Amino acid sequence: MKAPNRRKHAMSTILTELEERRESARGGGGERRVAAQHKRGKLTARERIELLVDDGSFEEFDMFVAHRCTDFGMASNQISGDGVVTGWGTINGRQVYVFSQDFTVFGGSLSETHAAKISKIMDMAVKNGAPIVGINDSGGARIQEGVASLAGYAEVFQRNVLASGVVPQISVIMGPCAGGAVYSPAMTDFIFMVRDTSYMFVTGPDVVKTVTNEVISAEELGGSKTHTARSSVADGAFENDVETLIEIRRFFDFLPLNSQMKPPTLPTYDSPDRLEWSLDSLVPDNPNQPYDMKELIYKLADEGDVFELKEEFARNIVTAFIRLEGTTVGVVANQPMVLAGCLDIDSARKAARFVRFCNAFEIPILTLVDVPGFLPGTSQEYGGIIIHGSKLLFAYAEATVPKVTVITRKAYGGAYVVMASKHLRGDFNYAWPSAQIAVMGAKGAVEILYRSELHNPETIAAKTKEYEDRFASPFAAAEKGFIDDVIMPHSTRKRVCRAFASLKHKSLSGPPKKHNNIPL
Ligand code: HXC
Repeated sequence: MKAPNRRKHAMSTILTELEERRESARGGGGERRVAAQHKRGKLTARERIELLVDDGSFEEFDMFVAHRCTDFGMASNQISGDGVVTGWGTINGRQVYVFSQDFTVFGGSLSETHAAKISKIMDMAVKNGAPIVGINDSGGARIQEGVASLAGYAEVFQRNVLASGVVPQISVIMGPCAGGAVYSPAMTDFIFMVRDTSYMFVTGPDVVKTVTNEVISAEELGGSKTHTARSSVADGAFENDVETLIEIRRFFDFLPLNSQMKPPTLPTYDSPDRLEWSLDSLVPDNPNQPYDMKELIYKLADEGDVFELKEEFARNIVTAFIRLEGTTVGVVANQPMVLAGCLDIDSARKAARFVRFCNAFEIPILTLVDVPGFLPGTSQEYGGIIIHGSKLLFAYAEATVPKVTVITRKAYGGAYVVMASKHLRGDFNYAWPSAQIAVMGAKGAVEILYRSELHNPETIAAKTKEYEDRFASPFAAAEKGFIDDVIMPHSTRKRVCRAFASLKHKSLSGPPKKHNNIPL
């Protein structure tokens, strides 16, 4: 008779203890530090996860994990969870693995056990084929642990590499991220930052001052503006924690769960047959007048829903996700508003990385072309445009996903070839009637071909007209089958949707190899 009572008593004590332990872990570094976090306009690690995943979907792992360090008084300084909250949940019903560093616990610094928690969920994500979202808010390596913490970073780095191309990895920088710690986000697929409260650098302002004498703030050295507009380390930045996490949810909906799965198809009310008459006048009569290529992207996309990446960097090319008939498509588009849409080092690097992500994760690619060529100049040549430009060429040529290209206006020279041309296994290559496909512009061509006649403006004008008549149209290319059809601008959405629909079961693979050797 007594035994069950005793068990009952013991059970209730255990339950109470469990709840107390959970409560203590949920409290992180304590009220004072949580208040300090809030005062900076930052949410706590758990609040962030709550906003990121669907209500009630989060399952936490390793809430009771504690560090094993005994140096520097750490034996008596234990906080359950050890500075990172890990687990899985869903975003609009689709599985995601998450880690969120807790700055209120030892400054979110990474210990051996903190790293083991992150590694565990990364392994789970790869095994189960679901993306990883890492929320970074950390003072870097746990200083009291020394090399053990460096080893922890290495474990995470190794997993970033193994997971690359298997599941999408997204890094969200929501606080400090310094030293070698920046290399884990750098090896993930996308990095998003929060304006004014996050920064990333390999060496901070103090070290910079000591070594180079430069005086610079953390914000200027590695804040969101620096990384979105200048270094191109970050893919985007948002106003505050809440907006950032809402946008990550929106972004997540564009991505497949893993490289073996197709991107999700969302219900849409936007008919694939929608005609956009305004596109017939998008390209100005004057071939040197710019127009906004983004207008075309917005008008093609289902419900005008566009998620642009690296918006502030290399604005002469646009990279974005849209949906057509509910399914994700990656868009790469020359932007005539900036540098006349020329390809240069930055734009080639930006677009190449995007094309490779799309190809790795089976996302079809739509390329919108208005490119007068590669940007000339010593800064480009000295900077290695040959290698960097070839990255985009390489990326397009290796891509086996469905590729649909629309030339709206200029497609000149090497840049014509690079921008998903027929010759790089483009599946559908369309041109608008306003397209001009040639080795170079008429003026430049005639100045080379008729150099000895340069003193004779009448001959030059006549030859320029002859060159224009021959090449300032899509038909010379269409006659050769390099352009599959010349389409009306207003019917572009319909034609592109039909093209992608016809490519749903496309299957293409190259010769077996260990991996290629893309020019880096
Ligand atoms: C242990 C740390 C810590 C760290 C911060 N804390 N960084 N504890 N290891 N790396 C603790 C602080 O002691 C403090 O504890 C709490 O976190 C908050 O820190 P504060 O300094 O009070 O906050 P703040 O003023 O906001 O400054 C944040 C900070 C600063 C800029 C991140 O703490 C800082 O510079 N930390 C050191 C950064 C660093 O040098 N890390 C090592 C980088 S090398 P209490 O108890 O007071 O709340 C590295 C190598 C990785 O990371 C290599 C991988 C290959």
